[in-house]
Amino acid sequence: MRILLVGATGTLGSAVHQVLVERKHDVVTVSRTGGDLQYDVTDPAQVADLYQTVGQVDAVASAAGHVPFKPFGELTIEDYQAGLTGKVLSQVALVREGLAHVTESFTLITGVLAREPIVTGAAASLVNGAVEAFVRAAAIEIAPQRINAVSPTVFTEALDAYGDYFPGMKPVSVADVAQAYVRSIEGRQTGQVYVL
Ligand SMILES: NC(=O)c1ccc[n+]([C@@H]2O[C@H](COP(=O)([O-])OP(=O)(O)OC[C@H]3O[C@@H](n4cnc5c(N)ncnc54)[C@H](OP(=O)(O)O)[C@@H]3O)[C@@H](O)[C@H]2O)c1
Repeated sequence: MRILLVGATGTLGSAVHQVLVERKHDVVTVSRTGGDLQYDVTDPAQVADLYQTVGQVDAVASAAGHVPFKPFGELTIEDYQAGLTGKVLSQVALVREGLAHVTESFTLITGVLAREPIVTGAAASLVNGAVEAFVRAAAIEIAPQRINAVSPTVFTEALDAYGDYFPGMKPVSVADVAQAYVRSIEGRQTGQVYVL
């Protein structure tokens, strides 16, 4: 398959890239500063331009998304807006703009905070929940195109940076998370949230 992978140079995106190449897919990699193409997916105009440049693909996989982490009392409205822009509306734009260019599927990234809150994670919980609700809703309207979300807990590879925020929570390797992208892309399910 020809697959557009957004966030391909990151901790998760690199693992997704590796497994998709190993499985003989033709992967077009995107990030703001690296990969085959440089685009900022928080800008809907850039997302539209990206699809014009890339043309038709079989699948889109998103492994990008930024949201602020702060104690609840320090989170400003601007922080929530930054999270919505950085992880929700960016991925919504990939689907909206992609409908005319993507033949089979979209796979979006969310995360454990949609279901398991942590201190400093209110904005992240809000945006992850929004992405998962969007995936379920979009799935019933975009068929025969499919859409799923991958919702991992903290990455083993991120424990040094974030481990203290996830006390007692078992991490998952990005290699295992990448398998959920394979499941979404090569399988036939839609409207699913793959919990890892
Ligand atoms: N870390 C964890 O433990 C964990 C757990 C569950 C879920 N997640 C989620 O998994 C996703 C990936 O996390 P990660 O740790 O792999 O992040 P990361 O290492 O910071 O990688 C992010 C990737 O996305 C690209 N990117 C960021 N903003 C972009 C934009 N606006 N437009 C285009 N590309 C953009 C980055 O490249 P450029 O900087 O060059 O743009 C990079 O390739 C995030 O949504 C995160 O919330 C993470």
